[in-house]
Amino acid sequence: MEQFKGQPRLPKFAVPKAYNIRLKPDLSACKFAGSVAISLDVVSDTNFIVLNAADLTIAPSSVSFTNSKEFRPVKVELFEADEILVLEFAEKLPTGAGLLRIDFEGVLNDKMKGFYRSTYEINGEKRNMAVTQFEPADARRCFPCWDEPACKAKFTIKLEVPSDLVALSNMPAAEEKVEGDSKIISYQETPLMSTYLVAVVVGLFDYVEGQTSDGIKVRVYCQVGKANQGNFALNVAVKTLELYKEYVLLLPSSIAPCINHYWLGRESEMKFWSGGESWIGVGTVKLCFRYFAVPYSLPKLDMIAIPDFAAGAMENYGLVTYRETALLYDDQHSAAANKQRVATVVAHELAHQWFGNLVTMEWWTHLWLNEGFATWVSYLATDSLFPEWKIWTQFLDELTEGLRLDGLEESHPIEVEINHASEIDEIFDAISYRKGASVIRMLQSYLGAEPFQRSLASYIKKYACKNAKTEDLWAALEEGSGEPVNMLMNSWTRQKGYPVVSVKLNGQKLEFEQTQFLSSGSQGDGQWIVPITMCSGSYDARKSFLLKTKSESVDVGTGNAWIKVNVDQTGFYRVKYDEELTARLRYAIEKKSLTEMDRFGILDDSFALSMARHQSLTSLLTLMAAYREEPEYTVLSNLISISYKVGRIAADATPNLLEYFNQFFIGLFQYSAEKLGWDPKQGESHLDAMLRGELLTALAQLGHDPTLDEASRRFQAFLDDRNTPLLPPDLRRAAYVGVMQRVNASNRSGYESLLQVYRETDLSQEKTRILGSLASCPDPKIILEVLNFLLTPEVRNQDAVFGLAVGREGREIAWTWLKDNWEHISKTWGSGFLMTRFVSAVVSPFASFEKAKEVEEFFASRTKPAIARTLKQSLERVYINAKWVQNIQNEKELGAAVQELGHRKY
Ligand code: BES
Ligand code: ZN
Repeated sequence: MEQFKGQPRLPKFAVPKAYNIRLKPDLSACKFAGSVAISLDVVSDTNFIVLNAADLTIAPSSVSFTNSKEFRPVKVELFEADEILVLEFAEKLPTGAGLLRIDFEGVLNDKMKGFYRSTYEINGEKRNMAVTQFEPADARRCFPCWDEPACKAKFTIKLEVPSDLVALSNMPAAEEKVEGDSKIISYQETPLMSTYLVAVVVGLFDYVEGQTSDGIKVRVYCQVGKANQGNFALNVAVKTLELYKEYVLLLPSSIAPCINHYWLGRESEMKFWSGGESWIGVGTVKLCFRYFAVPYSLPKLDMIAIPDFAAGAMENYGLVTYRETALLYDDQHSAAANKQRVATVVAHELAHQWFGNLVTMEWWTHLWLNEGFATWVSYLATDSLFPEWKIWTQFLDELTEGLRLDGLEESHPIEVEINHASEIDEIFDAISYRKGASVIRMLQSYLGAEPFQRSLASYIKKYACKNAKTEDLWAALEEGSGEPVNMLMNSWTRQKGYPVVSVKLNGQKLEFEQTQFLSSGSQGDGQWIVPITMCSGSYDARKSFLLKTKSESVDVGTGNAWIKVNVDQTGFYRVKYDEELTARLRYAIEKKSLTEMDRFGILDDSFALSMARHQSLTSLLTLMAAYREEPEYTVLSNLISISYKVGRIAADATPNLLEYFNQFFIGLFQYSAEKLGWDPKQGESHLDAMLRGELLTALAQLGHDPTLDEASRRFQAFLDDRNTPLLPPDLRRAAYVGVMQRVNASNRSGYESLLQVYRETDLSQEKTRILGSLASCPDPKIILEVLNFLLTPEVRNQDAVFGLAVGREGREIAWTWLKDNWEHISKTWGSGFLMTRFVSAVVSPFASFEKAKEVEEFFASRTKPAIARTLKQSLERVYINAKWVQNIQNEKELGAAVQELGHRKY
């Protein structure tokens, strides 16, 4: 039996075809009992059946294998470390069909994975619900199974539950029998699917219901009494389903710049629509098509809010589970940002119903196919439903975060080797999601939206109910577009990192040179096939070419027009301009000649280059000053977060200049903040509402006195009346942060009041907002209180990480606190990806070599596979910060420049 240990994948002596699963959860004792009958195909003569199981008690006497006769195993052994169950039979099992039966018992755990319990209150009484979360590899904690994405099978599920509860699974119920206080519900058989998508929820819920045009029932299940909070998500879901499978999608010109001659309309209005095809084009404005061109495969879709939930949402086939904050929308108390979050998360999970559930990655190495694609497609859908949100501009936040993580030497390729189940959790990261989505956007923009979608639809058709690898997708795109997709994309998915393209003017020539970009400032030796795009002086004409070698030059003629490379930031790379080109671009920004995406990109690249010490901080600050009149939400929002980061590093490097830095930032934000004011304007845009909140939060964080005064005035009004128009949801974070700036050990009232609001509200978004604001307090004693509060039962385990957002004043306290509480934290969060957030949030703000050493020493005896990668990445960030600090201290012109910028009167 030993030979089966330590293997990354199961041996395939037998493969499952269909599962009959019966589960009986006991919600008060927090246990469950179950049995499974698995139809197998034995593919080679064998004495062994090896499958996955973990944390289950299995009665050996219950195990049998039957074909024409019954076989009983001579040995049944569960190897907990490998999470496998090995059954040994005295004689060889003959090849062909057979039925494997196993009975088992387990615990409804409180770890938010496998089959677990979540708690809620009803009429003041605490209750449990039973919920499953199986991705990536926890179905094995609920029933023995071949728990790998490629082992697709059909599932017939039966639940035995108290008769007053709602019980849901992937499929609609086929039959329900009430027996006394219990009911037994049998669900219809699922189509072929992977184990990680199986789901069950049992508890008390209300719901709202809708229907798509072709009769798929969609429901949103919420806490009892809160059904109306499900309406927004319901609406988004119905529309998104129709969009993906049937209706047309409207691509904005911003992501399909080369397409400007297709017809706009709905499928039913498409006179020229040719049946099975998935797109059409005649006429003028935009492109129209049914995105996946394959119907949704199940008869119903349920979406449900779970009070304790580790991730944001989970795409279980036909039964999508969510954190409350990602599904519920309250007209009175949710902010515009909350609304946007709900829409994008719903769009993301529904995209998975095709990309992930119908066509599934062959192995976790290809996780990015699921997550990168769902992320990218969610923008497509959100843009179509809410064009005024300019969601493709907001996409640049994904790009930035992808570039940020991938600029580390401790990054990993998009396609990453997985050798043990415990390594999978950590790759649900910015590489799989954000770099994944970004390289898809890059490819789509290179191939053109129409061939891209057409090839994608044929890929979905070809691999429906099957599994696919990255190269299968490239093959489909290559066939559909005639371009060498495989060659182009391998350089992006099989090696980590990305290039910085340096651009220099040399007479009439523009010289391009690529080198690997690393935030540490070191040289990497990666090389990519880079789709270069550029515009000069106007957006009417653009040049593009593939940079396949290290360097190349292009004729640009004479003149002194601005030159922007990587137009609209569609490429996953950074650009470094020579001084002359930088000056021209800065002027173009001030003159408002560039698109918002380009303004975003120039700023972001400059920040990254400065951190990597390729550019002075002074030149970054000079560039930032050009953004004072910036009107665009996404650009300003990035300007704000860059200011935070620069402020933090400056506080370490040049504390004597900090005051000037702060004045400079306040001056930058005040222009827009004053234009927007505190009070929302009638009929104003979604983006202005979000922008106001972020600007005021930033001013509050910077200790801007008039903002703090106003924050406390409005907070007082809010305490008197929770529905006061003085503090609408979009302003609350700013007010909370403002209030916390003036809290200290002898002036606690703002803090106490916020805690009171936290305790009173039953809206998770409000709780999260408060948690995120508490730690912004500059007072060390209060920060410690806040951190300790996170570990009390008043904060759900899923939410504690939001309270870790401490400022620079708090980082030392947070570190000591983490060490003091490590045992407890590690025990409570240790088996999931939330644990990684404790490490990165506390470690990465440091900026000295001594601290890095100290952290290394502490973790030397405490590291484990689930946090190993994150720890290395966080430490690398500390080293990067430390080097940056040194660099800034040596920057001679900085002092004078900051003083000038800080004093500048606009
Ligand atoms: N498949 C994931 C959920 C997941 C994440 C399972 C990590 C296991 C481990 C789901 O589709 C997802 O990506 N959820 C995101 C939200 C999304 C909008 C980016 C999440 O949970 O943050
Ligand atoms: Zn996802």
